[in-house]
Amino acid sequence: MFVKSVMPRFVKNSRGRRSIEVELITYEGRFRCSAPSGKSTGKSEVACYHKKGISYSMKMLRVFCKRLVGKNFIIKDVGGLKDLNDLMRKFEARFGKFGGNVWYAVEGVFLRGAAADVGKELWEFINDDMNRGLKPKMPMPVGNCIGGGLHSKKIKGKRPDFQEFLLVGNAKSFGKAVTKNLRAYEYARTLLKKKEKGWRVKRNDEGAWMSSLANEEVLDILKRVSKRYDLKLGLDVASSGFYDKGYYIYKNKSLVRDKVDQADYMIKLIRKFGIFYLEDGMDEEDFGGFKSLVEGVKKIRRKVLIVGDDLTTTNLDRVRRAGRGKAINSMIIKPNQIGSMLEVKKVVEYCKKNKIVMIFSHRSGETMDNILADYCVGFGGQFMKAGIFGRERLVKLKRVMDIEKSLKR
Ligand code: PGA
Ligand code: ZN
Repeated sequence: MFVKSVMPRFVKNSRGRRSIEVELITYEGRFRCSAPSGKSTGKSEVACYHKKGISYSMKMLRVFCKRLVGKNFIIKDVGGLKDLNDLMRKFEARFGKFGGNVWYAVEGVFLRGAAADVGKELWEFINDDMNRGLKPKMPMPVGNCIGGGLHSKKIKGKRPDFQEFLLVGNAKSFGKAVTKNLRAYEYARTLLKKKEKGWRVKRNDEGAWMSSLANEEVLDILKRVSKRYDLKLGLDVASSGFYDKGYYIYKNKSLVRDKVDQADYMIKLIRKFGIFYLEDGMDEEDFGGFKSLVEGVKKIRRKVLIVGDDLTTTNLDRVRRAGRGKAINSMIIKPNQIGSMLEVKKVVEYCKKNKIVMIFSHRSGETMDNILADYCVGFGGQFMKAGIFGRERLVKLKRVMDIEKSLKR
């Protein structure tokens, strides 16, 4: 793949904040990729940008990109990013870290160019199944329906402590599951209006409904919604957001739980509401606590996804630790938590080998890029978590729907 031109620029994300987009021109065409940003980030994630900020990363990137022009890269698969990877690391050794978001945009655009070079869609370029003549399995969508925690503002001084009350798709096709999620999301609005006095339409960072209701009141609503539309129910507790020195400090309703109480409470909620998906139920450093959740659901004989996000941060060392310690049976994959797609590939291989369910996930501050969909289908993710409402979310859902349609032909 011959690089005719490569240029970075600023774009706005869904929070109206600056993000970096990279544009690449080769003989096959013009490609772009831009990176999302999180808000409830895990402590072990790599930084989004250089320690001097996004503008400094941009300055570095402008210099770096100039050096790529006129070069020829041989990228036959994701592993082929190695040469580019080496150049980036060498540059970082002199000038400091680019940041995970820069890696996301640079590697993403190079993968798009490389796929086009061999006349393939990006998901197809990544997916081994296609090379073996098999059709890839489509993921199911996980969508944020009602929100609390760090992603939401308080209403009359209150918000749920849990960050995301999720609808987990359950249908024959991804497209049908998305339609069901959307209807269920609208029905949740009706129920919130009935339950909460003076409730007005307000959406949070990820397009989920905001509410002042207590955690279990929202779960009640979600249970009704998911029953009506035959969906599964999920929760991203994002518990590190309200954890402090050994205690989980609940505000809505007000209560302090220690580690053991927290684990018991999570299992109690799983039973009471029939939760199928539980993300970050324990603090991000509490591998043992996660393990007690995996054991807890086994004891009650339920098939429940115990999902690591802030715990694992798409970091192979942490994923291995969680895997060996039987702390998770599922995990979130967010490429910019770790930076390079070569690292993501290793994490994916580990998950496949150890039967860990993969959920490819957007970030709360998203751009119009849809590369997440290609990554999810390409790497064989069982779920894609990309919201329900908002154009930055819809482009990703639509991309999977388009891939699904193209496979039916
Ligand atoms: P973030 O949150 O994108 O703000 O990190 C999403 C999540 O916790 O899953
Ligand atoms: Zn999360």
